[in-house]
Amino acid sequence: MRLMIIVGSVRPGRIGLPIARWVESVAAARAEVDVDVVDLAELALPFMDEPNHPRLQQYTHAHTIAWSERVAAADAVILVTPEYNHSYSPALKNALDYLHREWWRKPVGYVSYGGVSAGTRGVVALTVVTSALGMVRTGAAVEINFAGQQIHDGVFTPNEKETAVLDHLLDELGPLAEALAPLR
Ligand SMILES: Cc1cc2nc3c(=O)[nH]c(=O)nc-3n(C[C@H](O)[C@H](O)[C@H](O)COP(=O)(O)O)c2cc1C
Repeated sequence: MRLMIIVGSVRPGRIGLPIARWVESVAAARAEVDVDVVDLAELALPFMDEPNHPRLQQYTHAHTIAWSERVAAADAVILVTPEYNHSYSPALKNALDYLHREWWRKPVGYVSYGGVSAGTRGVVALTVVTSALGMVRTGAAVEINFAGQQIHDGVFTPNEKETAVLDHLLDELGPLAEALAPLR
């Protein structure tokens, strides 16, 4: 399974990156998983600047074509998402909006974090968008409250519950990716 892990926050000092590194290390330890971590700060997509609806796939910019090819190569996606003002990050929305068919019928798992709500309000907002893109979510979702308290020297240390839920999420992604493959 080619698994794309997207780091949803791009601001300096973000905790999304260490959390994504943890997700990457757990996923990459599975023999059947091939991981591609997308750091949206590095990807640096401009605000969506294509003249045509993404459904048409008539892309005019090299950055869109490269993003399209990268997403098309993935069998499954994990979104590592912060909660910003009871929703999710604008960088993530922008990256999702660029494409359409490339997301269609791909399984998606959420790793969310924030304050007391653990980013769950952000995920609720995000599911409206990923549903419109035809993505199918896992039942398991990693929810980390006050995640900053679990980061020391730039490294995120998960608790037992978070580790167990991430395992469940990864267990779900493989069969979902296979089952959805004929629909893509
Ligand atoms: C613009 C902004 C809005 C935020 N809004 C919320 C919020 O609505 N709920 C919440 O629990 N935390 C909120 N926070 C706190 C973030 O969850 C926390 O800063 C987290 O570290 C953000 O993720 P990041 O470091 O990967 O950017 C907000 C942070 C920022 C920068």
